[in-house]
Amino acid sequence: MQANTNTPKDRTRGLLYGRRKGKTLRDARARAYEAGLARHALDLSEPCGDPYALFDVPVRKLALEIGFGGGEHLLHQLDRQPDTGFLGCEPFVNGMARLLDDAKEHEGQGRLRVYEGDAREVIAWLPIGCLDMVYLLYPDPWPKLKHEKRRFMGPDTLDLLHPKMKLGAELRVASDIDVYKATTLKATREHPGFEPSDRKTSVPWEDWARTRYEAKAIREDRTPAYFSFFAKVLPQ
Ligand SMILES: C[S@@+](CC[C@H](N)C(=O)[O-])C[C@H]1O[C@@H](n2cnc3c(N)ncnc32)[C@H](O)[C@@H]1O
Repeated sequence: MQANTNTPKDRTRGLLYGRRKGKTLRDARARAYEAGLARHALDLSEPCGDPYALFDVPVRKLALEIGFGGGEHLLHQLDRQPDTGFLGCEPFVNGMARLLDDAKEHEGQGRLRVYEGDAREVIAWLPIGCLDMVYLLYPDPWPKLKHEKRRFMGPDTLDLLHPKMKLGAELRVASDIDVYKATTLKATREHPGFEPSDRKTSVPWEDWARTRYEAKAIREDRTPAYFSFFAKVLPQ
């Protein structure tokens, strides 16, 4: 008989995120989730083609939010940027359900597409040079050294992401965890395709909307940092 090697460790190998499900969804939210996915979900089994044509209405710019949590920042930016199509990735079902339920109240919902899974799959699927803006807000910190490989910010992800960004496109990263702030700085410093902005990292962006996770971090006395990096040409 073959040994069962499918241990919990095997099942999480290569995964960057933790749990996918929280409390059972209430009926109304479960309905909003089903209907929302039917309307907004990206289908990665088809080639991407023109990413600007993924939406119900014409858009001139493309933004990606990685791990949007409850979606409050994503919906805030959707309202603020009427010419931008938004791609949101979140493997946590309850976060996805909240976003899709709340999106019903937003006029710009035709410019929203979502993926319930790992953002790296969406990044890999997108064509070269299409993203104007990338948000990575309070990524799971994985603070222990033995979990370092599960941090979203790292050389492999930046190698994947950089070619999909337009030159000059902005990558925003927020974190309240010192080890993650250091990882972010190290990864971008060592990657030849990202230029740090000279803005003060202690001050939020002008168009910032506090996320649920940030509110918790501040309640618990942790200090956020707000980083911006710009995609630049790779040296020859
Ligand atoms: C700490 S929470 C922050 C959520 C939200 N950005 C906020 O500020 O409230 C991190 C989120 O990233 C999601 N996540 C983790 N790994 C991911 C990945 N590879 N792709 C997409 N989302 C991911 C998690 O499911 C979680 O909801």
